[in-house]
Amino acid sequence: MTTVAPVYLDNAATTRLDPEVLDAMLPLMTEQFGNPSSIHNHGRQVRTAIEKARKSVASLLNTSPAEIFFTSGGTEADNTAIRSSLETFGITHAITSPVEHHAVLHTLEHLQKQGQVRLSLVNVDDRGHIDLEHLEKLLRSFPRSFVSLMHGNNEIGNLLDLDQVGRLCRQYDAIFHSDTVQTMGHFRHDLQTLPVDFIVGAGHKFHGPKGVGFLYVNAERAKIHPFIYGGAQERNMRGGTENVYGIVGLAKALEIAYRDMDAHRQHITALKQRMIEQLIEKMPDVRFNGDSANVDGSLYTVLNVSLPASDMSDMLLFNLDIAKISASGGSACSSGSAIGSHVLAALPGLDSERGYVRFSFGKYNTAAEIDYTVDTLVGLYQKEARLV
Ligand SMILES: Cc1ncc(COP(=O)(O)O)c(C=O)c1O
Repeated sequence: MTTVAPVYLDNAATTRLDPEVLDAMLPLMTEQFGNPSSIHNHGRQVRTAIEKARKSVASLLNTSPAEIFFTSGGTEADNTAIRSSLETFGITHAITSPVEHHAVLHTLEHLQKQGQVRLSLVNVDDRGHIDLEHLEKLLRSFPRSFVSLMHGNNEIGNLLDLDQVGRLCRQYDAIFHSDTVQTMGHFRHDLQTLPVDFIVGAGHKFHGPKGVGFLYVNAERAKIHPFIYGGAQERNMRGGTENVYGIVGLAKALEIAYRDMDAHRQHITALKQRMIEQLIEKMPDVRFNGDSANVDGSLYTVLNVSLPASDMSDMLLFNLDIAKISASGGSACSSGSAIGSHVLAALPGLDSERGYVRFSFGKYNTAAEIDYTVDTLVGLYQKEARLV
């Protein structure tokens, strides 16, 4: 077995910074240090860099710079969309699903607990797909709802048809927010045609820096109140001195992601296909959760593997870590550990005795890393079988 470790297969949690992005950020960390709100030369120079970044993000998404607001990441962007729209529009009913990221679920659950909104969860099938008939039923019963349904699921890789859901929401006068954190930079979003009110992005999911993201607000349909009160930054929507190098890095990372998207998609899809084929060949009774093994119809960066029940199921990630393979047992966003996944728990009929690993791929992964990972997994199970 060729040793290629350490192997990083947790790209849905975060990605490695692209050196081109670092180059774009460095001047803002060194000589261009002015406060963008200052009107002198040092400030103006940095203000120009922020507005150039905003223009670039807007142009990649085919929308206007006035509709892009920089935030501290995906979580803040999701919180802003949810909390500000409920407050601004006086919406009293929200619809989401049990497989959303905690950035959405915990926010809506908290607002429900406070009595600010009544929350309905749309059903999912045993592969984690949204039941669109149930969604329509809920929309019919509660017109003018706030709907939050993610585009690409970070754990099981399912994709939602944003166009179809967006049109349904408009039919029932609902506001539609989609958490697009996992698809931003990996799929193209055309905001001239997409019927959404809010989508979001986080720089660190597409080889940009951590701690910076953005919120798209559809200006024609949704004019929300500010989320963070303070200075006039972000056109009075989010007070606080901007994360200038983060913003410039995010825009550069998105430019690179769009420039190289087709090649990267092809490379990453081939890696995922390779892992699926090898696992099927070498690991008896392997299964795949959600839609993640549907190579052309899912998030190509995510593969959620279900391994035969064994005494080792709980120790899988630990054993992979010993072999210097970083993967995840669910969303690593908040815990970094293999705690039980609320997404897997929401799938009807899931066998809790089996072992679950989410592998997520990126542009820097190689075929040799996939081979090493599969061989390591197979070796772990063979060792376990000998011990029993
Ligand atoms: C689907 C999804 N939404 C939201 C987030 C939160 O993003 P951030 O860590 O930038 O706040 C994450 C990530 O970790 C995610 O995967």
